[in-house]
Amino acid sequence: MMVMTGKDQGAPTEEVFPELTYDVIDRMSNAKSARLQEVMEVVIRHLHAIVREAKMTQGEWWQAIGFLTRAGKMCSESRQELILLSDILGVSMLVDAVDNVAGPGISDSTVLGPFYAGHQRELAQGDSILLREEASEPLVMSGHVTDPEGQPVAEALIEVWQTAPNQLYDVQDRNQPQGHLRASFRTDTAGTYRFRTIMPVSYPIPDDGPAGQLLAAMGRHPFRPAHIHFMISAPGYRTLVTHLFFAGDEFLESDAVFGVKPSLVVRPRLKGDINTVEYDFGLARELDAGSARPPSFVAESNKRSPR
Ligand code: BEZ
Ligand code: FE
Repeated sequence: MMVMTGKDQGAPTEEVFPELTYDVIDRMSNAKSARLQEVMEVVIRHLHAIVREAKMTQGEWWQAIGFLTRAGKMCSESRQELILLSDILGVSMLVDAVDNVAGPGISDSTVLGPFYAGHQRELAQGDSILLREEASEPLVMSGHVTDPEGQPVAEALIEVWQTAPNQLYDVQDRNQPQGHLRASFRTDTAGTYRFRTIMPVSYPIPDDGPAGQLLAAMGRHPFRPAHIHFMISAPGYRTLVTHLFFAGDEFLESDAVFGVKPSLVVRPRLKGDINTVEYDFGLARELDAGSARPPSFVAESNKRSPR
C-alpha cells in the first residue's frame, strides 16, 4: 500500500501516519491463531503509539535496538535478562494482577523471578533446607495449605527457595552446594507444612547488565526486600507463586520489582530463642484441568534433580 505520511499531510504528531498502523494490522488476516492475532494487534497499536507519543528520533530508535540486542545477548543458561527487564518495569506484576484470581481464603501471588530451579529434593516435615551451616539466625516456618473454604489441602507440593546470607542463590554461586536453601515438602492430611531455614536477607537483583544500566539511568536502586519464595501446587488448584517478606525491611516500600503486597509481609515471633513464622496459604480452585506450573529458567547444568 502506498500512503502519504502524516508529515506530508501536516497532521498533528499524535496522528502521524495512521494508515501504516491499520496496514500492519490488516496484514495479519491469515494469522495462524486468533489469539496471536488479537494480541499482536494490541502490541502493534501500542508500539506505534509509543513512537508517536514519544516523538522518537532515529537516534533513540538505534539506542533502543542496541539495548534490546545487548539484553538478548546477556541471556544465557544462567541469566534471564528479559525477565529482569519485565520485572523492573512492573510488567511481571501487571501480568500477575491481570491473570489473578483473588477472593476470600485465597492467598496473594507475586513474581516468580528468574531463580526457580525446578522441582527439588522432597524433605520431611520439620527438616532444614540448608545443605551447609550458615552464620545466620535460624527460622522455623510452618502453617497450613487450605482451600478457599479453609479446609486442609493434603499432599500439596510446597517448593521454597531463598538466597544465602551472601545475597546469592545457589544457582548464582559456585561456592554453594547445589540445592542449598531450596527444597520441596508435601503437606500432611491436616494440610500442615513445617521446615527449618535461616532469616532471609535483602539483596540486589543482578544489575551488571542492560537491566541494571537502565535501573541506574532511571535513578533507581536494584534491591529486593528479604523474602522466601513459595510455589504451592496441588491437583484441582491453581498453582500459587508467591513470597513471604519480613516486616521492618528497609526495602519493603521500594522493591526493585514491585512484588510486595501487604498480606505477604510477616513478623517473626520468638519461641524460646528461635524466630518462628506461622503462615497459612489459601489456594484457588482451578477450573481447567491441570494447573500450569511455571517453567524454570535456570540452566539444566545448575539444577539438582529431586531425590
Ligand atoms: C527473585 O526474587 O528471585 C527475583 C525476582 C525478580 C528479579 C530478580 C530476582
Ligand atoms: Fe528472590
